[in-house]
Amino acid sequence: MPNRRILFLMPSQAVTGVFPALRDAGFELGIAENLKGAAVFIRKSGPDVIFARPTLPGFRVEDLLSVGSDDPHFPPVIVVTDHGTPEEAERLLNLGARDYWLEPLDCGRILTVARETKKSVPVPPQSTLGGHKPTFPEGVGPRIVGRHPSIARVLALAKQVAPSKATVLIMGESGTGKEMFARYLHAMSKRARGPFVAVNCAALPENLLESELFGHEKGAFTGAIARKLGKFELASGGTLLLDEISEMDLPLQAKLLRVLQEGEVDRVGGSETISVDVRVLATTNRNLEDWVKEGKFRQDLYFRLNVIPLRLPALHERGDDVLELAAFFINMYVREYSLPPMSLAPSAVSWLRDYTFPGNVRELQNLMERAVLLANGRPIEPCHFLLENAEWPLFAGDEETSVQHESPQDAMDTPPPSSSSIPSDTSSQNPLEAFHGPVIPLHEMERIMIIKGLEVTSGNRTQAAEMLGISVRTLRNKLNEYRSMGHPID
Ligand SMILES: Nc1ncnc2c1ncn2[C@@H]1O[C@H](COP(=O)(O)OP(=O)(O)OP(=O)(O)O)[C@@H](O)[C@H]1O
Ligand SMILES: [Mg+2]
Repeated sequence: MPNRRILFLMPSQAVTGVFPALRDAGFELGIAENLKGAAVFIRKSGPDVIFARPTLPGFRVEDLLSVGSDDPHFPPVIVVTDHGTPEEAERLLNLGARDYWLEPLDCGRILTVARETKKSVPVPPQSTLGGHKPTFPEGVGPRIVGRHPSIARVLALAKQVAPSKATVLIMGESGTGKEMFARYLHAMSKRARGPFVAVNCAALPENLLESELFGHEKGAFTGAIARKLGKFELASGGTLLLDEISEMDLPLQAKLLRVLQEGEVDRVGGSETISVDVRVLATTNRNLEDWVKEGKFRQDLYFRLNVIPLRLPALHERGDDVLELAAFFINMYVREYSLPPMSLAPSAVSWLRDYTFPGNVRELQNLMERAVLLANGRPIEPCHFLLENAEWPLFAGDEETSVQHESPQDAMDTPPPSSSSIPSDTSSQNPLEAFHGPVIPLHEMERIMIIKGLEVTSGNRTQAAEMLGISVRTLRNKLNEYRSMGHPID
């Protein structure tokens, strides 16, 4: 498979946090801080997707979108901003932006988009089976790790219903694997070769969500400068995932119900009815039955979606699955970062067994990624989890110090973290009382603090050095030293 290419049209500091992981995942990356630099990368490398700030000195994303609207081969543009507004989102999405994200950039989300963009771009309006590259080879879904009876039951049911066209409602707390199960159902269905299209119903205001789902005709409303296909049409022949369905408002719920019953959509402002062949999956982390009782969710739609209910258990209800999942993620990141094999120390095993994981599998996954990087070949100890709470109180005050300063406006609104904020936080308490981690070599502590400093400042070396109480030059030397020892951390 040729390398996927991503262009970031934004200040390089905004990308520092995600750059190494994307590069290690095999992407060819370009960063341009102006239109000229972007044009060179686009001409030479032909990116698969572009992430762009709405404005930069001498650049407005509208210019890029207007090129895209004239050229069907132009890569999709995702707008990424640190000061989002619904009005701007609406305007830019209408101008053809693929999506509208708020910073900070999230590596996992970028990977998902970048891996899928190429196959979703050329989807013809009335796609048929066979025309798409499947998300996974047919019949091979994402690997669902764990064997606790509570998840084994759900998996057995999912296997059983996957081949049918039945609507499935996937319920579970945040991070329990709802989207993963949706992808599994798609991959194991007869539509695996068709598109898998996901819409987050919580991410867009109602009127935008309607045109996102059903599409609109040119001139349907102010700003609708071109015809836009809805996700139902784009998913034709495949699967449509309606993520966070509870967040859809009641009038749109009524329209959705009609589409589900009749298998036809009307584009906003359009006069023809378009039939679509779509299998619908929906997820929610709320108790929809309660929402129905409270009048916030239509009962008829609830019954229509809930043909097959899949209820995912919280991670803390899954016994030793937490250890199996931890081992799975450790191996995954060891491979991804080309590190030596690693395992959990007994103290980390008991910590994982005791912790309740409010963020479920996603939280465990993030924890393991960080631990793998910090342990760097040694057995993983609880101190490598670097938790942002009482388990690691040395970092109390992180919330304040992790404010990111990307633009001059930001810097004016919020004073940058000063080195004095760290001593004052820790001097109010006895540091020994506050620190529960095991004793580790000082040079290791230093490395951990440097990683932490860069993490909370999104890789801004000047701010990180200030927080660490060292000069930028010393920080640079340390980073060079780690790199020369084969353990780069930036
Ligand atoms: N059983 C599992 N085996 C392997 N990985 C898993 C499993 N469950 C979840 N994951 C991973 O955990 C992460 C979170 O899963 P997912 O995005 O599917 O959760 P979600 O329930 O949709 O979360 P949210 O409600 O926040 O959207 C993903 O990276 C997913 O691959
Ligand atoms: Mg999800």
